[in-house]
Amino acid sequence: MFDLEQLRRHVWLREVEFHDAIESTNVRAAELAAGGVVNCPQLVLAAGQSAGKGRGANRWWSSAGALTFSLLIEPEALGLRSEQWPRTSLCAALAVRDAVDNLAPADDCGVKWPNDVYHSGRKICGVLVEAPPRKQDAPHRLVIGVGVNVNNSLVAAPIDVQALATSLVDLTGRPHNLTEVLSDILSRLAENLAQLAGEATELPERWQRHSLLDGRTVTVDLATRKVTGYCLGINAQGALDLATEFGVEAIHAGVVSNISPALRTE
Ligand code: BTN
Repeated sequence: MFDLEQLRRHVWLREVEFHDAIESTNVRAAELAAGGVVNCPQLVLAAGQSAGKGRGANRWWSSAGALTFSLLIEPEALGLRSEQWPRTSLCAALAVRDAVDNLAPADDCGVKWPNDVYHSGRKICGVLVEAPPRKQDAPHRLVIGVGVNVNNSLVAAPIDVQALATSLVDLTGRPHNLTEVLSDILSRLAENLAQLAGEATELPERWQRHSLLDGRTVTVDLATRKVTGYCLGINAQGALDLATEFGVEAIHAGVVSNISPALRTE
């Protein structure tokens, strides 16, 4: 299913750990982060997860043929300052968006702020970035968890799931080489993180260009309150700019709902 030797030769990776089955690659990467010396960037890759984590209390469900991995990075070693770390999630989503668009080109292949990739109005990828607890004096580490529907067809899934999600095999009508897709995502992510470290203007221009919420009215749940507004885009800090009745508010984190018009038009 995966060519591990090819992945171990990937220029950006220093370690690859593979599991046929695991609860969650994010949990495993966090365990590694809490330990001693880790060669970062380290890839934790699984053919299957039994308890994949999604945002909040959500689970990430994926069947055979999906791509599920976590990347453990030491952000300071990559030149990333702490205020830039929240934007790693957008860097990952953008990397997946570009890799998916390369195989299944579409105008509506884009990023749904803050961490999803959608194609044809359906979710194809979710990203979960976590900062695991660390030992005193250990370097800061981030876990970038990515789930992409690649060869896991959703045509046999319940109709409500089909309406919400899609996969590369369903979009293109052919299976894809998981190692190639993963290598491509990793190369794009390495480049995006380098651009983030250098505050390259091209990076926010790209997430703005591919932002799917622009021109839509959305509600964002901020845990303490909800904000409803007209989405102006994702700004250079990675925040969602919403025009509300009180003026423009930059939202740095939250859960988006009530998207109008909906992402899916059929
Ligand atoms: C979301 O859309 O809520 C984020 C989903 C993130 C899922 C990936 S799959 C690989 C990695 N390991 C996990 O347990 N979760 C992330």
